[in-house]
Amino acid sequence: MNSVPVIPDNAPFSAEQRAWLNGFLAGVLNRGSAAAAVSSPQKATTPLLIAFGSQSGNAESLAKRLAREASGRGFAARAAGLDSLQPADLVKEQNVLLITSTWGEGDMPDNAVSFWDSINQNGSSPKLDGVQYSVLALGDKNYGDTYCLAGRKLDLRLAELGAKRILDRVDCDVDFDDLAKTWSANAFMALSGGTAVTTVTAAPAPVAEPEETGYTKKNPFPAKLILNTSLNTRGSSKDTRHIGFSLAGSGLTYEVGDALGVFVQNCTEVVDAVIAAHAFDPQADVPLPDGGSAPLREALIRHYEVRSLFGKVPEPGITLAAFMEKLRKLQPRLYSIASSIKAHADEVHLCIAAVRYNTDGVPHKGVASTFLADRLPLGETTGIYFHAANHFRLPADLTKPVIMVGPGTGIAPFRAFLEEREATQAPGKNWLFFGDQKRASDFLYHDQIIEWVQKGHLTRLDTAFSRDQVEKIYVQTRMLQAAAELWQWLEEGAHFYVCGDAKRMAKDVDEALHSVIQTAGGKSADEAAAYVAQMKKEKRYARDVY
Ligand SMILES: Cc1cc2nc3c(=O)[nH]c(=O)nc-3n(C[C@H](O)[C@H](O)[C@H](O)COP(=O)(O)OP(=O)(O)OC[C@H]3O[C@@H](n4cnc5c(N)ncnc54)[C@H](O)[C@@H]3O)c2cc1C
Ligand SMILES: NC(=O)c1ccc[n+]([C@@H]2O[C@H](COP(=O)([O-])OP(=O)(O)OC[C@H]3O[C@@H](n4cnc5c(N)ncnc54)[C@H](OP(=O)(O)O)[C@@H]3O)[C@@H](O)[C@H]2O)c1
Ligand SMILES: Cc1cc2nc3c(=O)[nH]c(=O)nc-3n(C[C@H](O)[C@H](O)[C@H](O)COP(=O)(O)O)c2cc1C
Repeated sequence: MNSVPVIPDNAPFSAEQRAWLNGFLAGVLNRGSAAAAVSSPQKATTPLLIAFGSQSGNAESLAKRLAREASGRGFAARAAGLDSLQPADLVKEQNVLLITSTWGEGDMPDNAVSFWDSINQNGSSPKLDGVQYSVLALGDKNYGDTYCLAGRKLDLRLAELGAKRILDRVDCDVDFDDLAKTWSANAFMALSGGTAVTTVTAAPAPVAEPEETGYTKKNPFPAKLILNTSLNTRGSSKDTRHIGFSLAGSGLTYEVGDALGVFVQNCTEVVDAVIAAHAFDPQADVPLPDGGSAPLREALIRHYEVRSLFGKVPEPGITLAAFMEKLRKLQPRLYSIASSIKAHADEVHLCIAAVRYNTDGVPHKGVASTFLADRLPLGETTGIYFHAANHFRLPADLTKPVIMVGPGTGIAPFRAFLEEREATQAPGKNWLFFGDQKRASDFLYHDQIIEWVQKGHLTRLDTAFSRDQVEKIYVQTRMLQAAAELWQWLEEGAHFYVCGDAKRMAKDVDEALHSVIQTAGGKSADEAAAYVAQMKKEKRYARDVY
């Protein structure tokens, strides 16, 4: 066995860099003998890059957790966002595990866009011969054809560029934990020179993963509902609620920018209608998604998604067992946090639009939003957990200006940001673009926002009430009207944030941002695109869109 190369202690590197370099050099020189690294965890020999494309943090936390686990197994592992990587970095690092979600309608998550653009351009990407890789794709089967599309595209492209797939890609639906464990265990084994399992089919060898402690998605905190007030007034066509939970006794805290996961229940009337339509016995014992069993009615209220079954004609003659097979697990919903813990000790606030609509004359209601708006009584509890959003953070430098674009419920994280900046007495300027249907009835958090303007805390406020006049006025209309000042703020180093509707608003706001940079900044379309790409790289352009 070759001796492990040693970067001398007096070399100009931090301990961390030295350890990584030693691991990297050892990996380069000892390729093929990497299995030894697994049996002697102290010596990090096989370099391993766990790259992530992540919008709301799932792929990011998974990548970071797996990097810690891989380090414990003797790899010189590190996790890195795709926004910090160039294709050439993969060639340098050789062993790459790539975890990515899919966002929008089959799109790359924001932090993977420029990496994807650079490997997808014919001729400009380096060949990836010598790179060994595997992809874990996170997604949601509800998205149909675009299920895990970003992961599928990256997987194909890496192979096209000559990289060697050491393990077949694994596509994961919303509950990705078990498949991710299997995939990572097999990938570590294949990279360590163990049996090269190419398809994940069976349970892996057990992985020594540190158990999460405290209140998590798997162990949610039963939080008491303490606030449920309407943010719209008479005459509004919307029903937006200010919702608050008590964190008392939980020891939990959060950062502004994070989201809250909320466990919810289906409407009993909807469940009863579904059971009656199928003529099932509501007390029949049925299996639960995570093991165990419960009476059918209870299982449908708390554990399974039944929304899509409501108002549907039942399949003729379907048995209860076949019916249960078709059901998906009821998932908790995420909400952007609308408060700063510095302003509301032991509380977390949300801004939620109750989803209600009709199709073919049948009224439908969103499961979670109406559970919180209508069915969870004040003082009762439901399970909650915090979901970190490291991509959506206020600048660490309190003097930096921030520009926030948040129409509708998109205001949520910006109420939190403004409360936080007030509590920390951040001297940087604050600019809010807010929009909704009508000023008289839909100006969410009106009093607090106007008070911030009067105090000078909110340096500039631009509102866009879309239905107060014949033509639509949207937040991006206001951005374009204020192009010169917006450009000036960007040039002063402002951080630009967008929250709310992903399908239409976020795309239009992105277009308006490019347009402002072109018109006020005197740039060509390509230069504006490069300017925006640089903002993303510097983490000065962040989106929390859904
Ligand atoms: C990171 C993140 C942050 C979020 N933050 C917030 C927030 O701050 N505030 C907020 O309100 N929401 C937020 N959401 C959205 C939230 O998680 C839920 O998706 C939303 O409340 C709807 O959930 P629901 O269970 O009420 O509706 P569901 O039961 O899931 O029903 C929604 C579905 O109903 C259908 N639908 C809805 N409207 C119509 C219509 N008009 N016509 C036909 N079909 C329709 C669509 O298929 C839609 O997907 C966020 C989402 C994410 C991922
Ligand atoms: N069918 C759907 O799936 C659907 C539809 C709407 C909202 N939503 C979702 O429902 C939730 C709550 O919505 P919300 O109350 O927060 O607000 P919202 O419906 O996004 O509306 C807020 C404001 O944005 C305006 N708006 C509409 N299109 C826009 C665009 N392209 N660019 C900029 N602004 C635009 C709206 O105007 P107008 O309404 O006057 O056009 C309104 O004034 C969000 O999750 C949103 O994504 C879903
Ligand atoms: C607004 C939105 C759009 C999404 N679009 C897709 C999609 O097109 N295809 C898919 O498979 N999953 C889609 N997803 C599901 C995410 O990929 C999935 O929730 C994933 O776990 C998110 O991981 P992340 O937090 O690392 O971004 C979408 C989720 C949201 C909230």
